[in-house]
Amino acid sequence: MLTSDKNEQTAPEKTNPENSKPMLFPVSPKLAAEAMVDDEKYRQMYQQSIVNPQGFWREHGQRIDWFTPFTKVKNVSFDDHHVDIKWFKDGTTNVSHNCLDRHLETKGDQVAIYWEGDEPGEQREITYRELHEEVSRFANALKSQGVRQGDVVAIYMPMVIEAAVAMLACTRIGAIHSIVFAGFSPEALAGRIIDSNAKIVITADEGVRGGRTTALKANVDEALTHPDIRTIEKVIVYRRTGADIPWHNHRDVWWHELQQLSSPHCQAREMGAEDPLFILYTSGSTGKPKGVLHTTGGYLVYASMTHEYLFDYRDGEVFWCNADVGWITGHTYVVYGPLCNGATIVMHEGVPNYPSVNRVSQIVDKYNVNILYIAPTAIRALMAHDKQAVEGTSRKSLRLLGTVGEPINPQAWHWYHQTVGEGRCPIVDTWWQTETGAAMITPLPGATALKPGSATRPFFGVMPALVDNMGNIIDGPGEGNLVILDSWPGQARTVYGDHERFVQTYFTSFKGMYTTGDGARRDEDGYYWITGRVDDVINVSGHRMGTAEIESAMVAHHQVAEAAVVGYPHDIKGQGIYVYVTLNSGVDYSFDLAADLKKWVRQEIGPIATPDIIQNAPGLPKTRSGKIMRRILRKIAAGECDSLGDTSTLADPSVVDQLIADRVEVS
Ligand code: WTA
Repeated sequence: MLTSDKNEQTAPEKTNPENSKPMLFPVSPKLAAEAMVDDEKYRQMYQQSIVNPQGFWREHGQRIDWFTPFTKVKNVSFDDHHVDIKWFKDGTTNVSHNCLDRHLETKGDQVAIYWEGDEPGEQREITYRELHEEVSRFANALKSQGVRQGDVVAIYMPMVIEAAVAMLACTRIGAIHSIVFAGFSPEALAGRIIDSNAKIVITADEGVRGGRTTALKANVDEALTHPDIRTIEKVIVYRRTGADIPWHNHRDVWWHELQQLSSPHCQAREMGAEDPLFILYTSGSTGKPKGVLHTTGGYLVYASMTHEYLFDYRDGEVFWCNADVGWITGHTYVVYGPLCNGATIVMHEGVPNYPSVNRVSQIVDKYNVNILYIAPTAIRALMAHDKQAVEGTSRKSLRLLGTVGEPINPQAWHWYHQTVGEGRCPIVDTWWQTETGAAMITPLPGATALKPGSATRPFFGVMPALVDNMGNIIDGPGEGNLVILDSWPGQARTVYGDHERFVQTYFTSFKGMYTTGDGARRDEDGYYWITGRVDDVINVSGHRMGTAEIESAMVAHHQVAEAAVVGYPHDIKGQGIYVYVTLNSGVDYSFDLAADLKKWVRQEIGPIATPDIIQNAPGLPKTRSGKIMRRILRKIAAGECDSLGDTSTLADPSVVDQLIADRVEVS
């Protein structure tokens, strides 16, 4: 529906004859004229970025302050014998300088962060000058606790301003942060601490989300009882709720006491462009989560540039990305991208539907949010309440909407567009990954006509391609494995402490290319449609999880012999977790046991990994070499029992009939 608003989008041009849904939303001429980039400029800049990447990035690398200017731009090898990725390698800079110090002269009194608590009415705000001071103090505090350049600092924090302060303080002194999502269990936290050899943990007494508290400090205490943790020297605790917490005098330190003692002056350390910036653990198809490592210069250039272009960010606007800092989206689009650009951001402690389903819309109105960036799972959860989700709010400040984290189904896209954005705000559906650092395939609002469900076209410098399973490049429209043919500045450089795993995971399936693990389709206009993971990774509520991790948690239970985990289509979560479990002989399956197993996984990994469905499976479909045929399990979970495909290679095809007979109906 057309509105008279100045930012209106033109009406959909094409319709899908089958269901008469709009298919193409052209850019409004007004937006094309106002935006940083229109279609013609996009094509010209994209072309330049591909034909002459050295020249393109030499120019755009200047968008951040360098202490020593770089002379080298791109030094990259994707050869699997020698994967080496370096950008701007002889330049020096500092991330916190770029996110804070350089804004002080012009934006010192501008709000950097509006913080909105879990309960309405709980709020704080902090200007760039105040944030600079807090970060400088905390950088000194870290130093006083023995943190040196190159040390790893684990951050296990709720969504409070201090989480951003901790991140920026690490970057100020050259420490490498490793954020562990506060929803993870003590066990998961311990694993990440062991792998990264972290020296310090920063946490809070409790976290608050959706009206509930999580005992973060107690979780840290429990994690640190792990016998393999030998590197942690101190635990710094931010007081969020004031709850009583256990205290170890020799090890635990209060955040506020350190801040009081610390000087507000701390020079930003000169860091090499390729010095490590942060580690972030993410799930893959096999083994334990990987510590993806991002470095300083390229990441910041790419994070800030994508933030500016894909949200068409204009000075003075209020930007709200509701991701948690525990995920890459929180790193890049809550903290580093926007702050590097001197933006005003909103940071929300809670969840989108607490205490009421119109919470997101209320926050938009309260802070006059111009740009809202949320995950499809949140959109679907709100869509379930339709108009109630926007009740009593105007959202007139909104100019642009964004989504990230999983494919957005067209129905959710239309609801977001119509009901939240009143048909006037373009939606940027941004495809990217922890490993890519920032957005890779995405519309630019002034340049790209939108198709609901498509992430559309590559960002500058990004060379996506589709390959078949043999690695042959597919030209024109088609479907295949999504790969990236050449490097971009925000690319992860390695897996922390295990470069071989980095090479194995991303560069051996298809020679000379970065393997994304996603499948995609390219249409006749060259638009990409992400079809989902082609490996054993599932995407639950926008959270990426390895089925192998959940399986290994399951088999750690004393009554479980074997488990196979697959995703199945879930209305709100995108994918739900379906577990087939084979019990030890002599153990009887019961609903109580199933409930127990769910609780077990929750404790082992965290609430986000809780199985939705558990099916008793006395036998699993295996090939003669003993490999579980997940393809069949996925089909059964999805209720597509008529199209199981070839089952002749199974060692015992009769297990399939049993599995179908015992299938749990998903609602
Ligand atoms: C999926 C999140 C479709 C994809 C930034 C990818 C998406 C994984 C989209 C990475 C999108 C992310 N459309 N799928 N717009 N964005 N994905 O590492 O499967 O948590 O590989 O990074 O999320 O998840 P990660």
